[in-house]
Amino acid sequence: MAQLSGKTALITGGARGIGAAIARAYLREGATVMVADLSEIAVQKAAADMGAFAVQMDVTRQDSIDAAIAHAVAQMGGLDILVNNAGVYDLDPIVDIPRDSYDRLFAVNVAGTLFTLQAAARQMLAQGRGGRIINLSSQAGRRGEPLGAVYCATKAAVISLTQSAGLDLIRHGISVNAIAPGVIDSDMWDHVDALFAKAEGLPIGEKKARVGAAVPFGRFGTPDEVAGMAVFLASDAAAYITAQTYGVDGGNWMA
Ligand SMILES: NC(=O)c1ccc[n+]([C@@H]2O[C@H](COP(=O)([O-])OP(=O)(O)OC[C@H]3O[C@@H](n4cnc5c(N)ncnc54)[C@H](O)[C@@H]3O)[C@@H](O)[C@H]2O)c1
Repeated sequence: MAQLSGKTALITGGARGIGAAIARAYLREGATVMVADLSEIAVQKAAADMGAFAVQMDVTRQDSIDAAIAHAVAQMGGLDILVNNAGVYDLDPIVDIPRDSYDRLFAVNVAGTLFTLQAAARQMLAQGRGGRIINLSSQAGRRGEPLGAVYCATKAAVISLTQSAGLDLIRHGISVNAIAPGVIDSDMWDHVDALFAKAEGLPIGEKKARVGAAVPFGRFGTPDEVAGMAVFLASDAAAYITAQTYGVDGGNWMA
């Protein structure tokens, strides 16, 4: 039986990668889904391909967040599930971190997550039937990485926000949990690989090959393998779970 039938879900950064895989999985489980992303063209195309609604959205802008939530409610008749998936990556040694890189990563990964969560929670409170909020953190949020200080800090902040928001909102029946993927094969990791190639003088693809081989499971994960956890956290099976962060990483963080 479909686990999410009758539910409505908004997924930020849903035009590709992990967000698109979560959208497809939610659709398979019977949910009505809206994908939100920066590029109007990309989000419309992705939504049409998967059979979802679409909205152009920039999670760093409050007017865009408010408009996207309003559009989701108008098109789908309510909002039961938010997946805060939009995220960006950058790397630099500590002594070279540019302030604009810091500002951009915190604007998308932290402020974008918090204020989209806030707007969705306000809508869920008004509806009075609870809800589910799922944030994308990372294994990077649970450790340090020599060139990834800012990204790691943003993803640690996502774990912390998940804990506090989960504790605050559960009295209203709204649960907040996070997923901490390991290394997942997506456009983001191709970008990461290109940054490492430049920083460490490696051929393109070399960092990715080394990192994949070092995962205890022996390879990168797929976006679909992260989507399984996002389905579980939105389903009735996760009713008693809040303020938690779950690794989906082939054992990588533990190693
Ligand atoms: N790929 C990995 O290995 C990995 C590992 C751990 C965590 N994550 C996290 O999972 C999430 C998805 O990662 P992915 O690999 O699918 O990345 P991706 O780069 O392939 O996709 C991210 C999506 O977010 C969108 N986006 C970026 N800035 C936005 C903004 N301001 N407003 C709205 N949308 C915006 C992008 O346009 C893109 O479609 C991110 O939060 C990422 O940090 C990824």
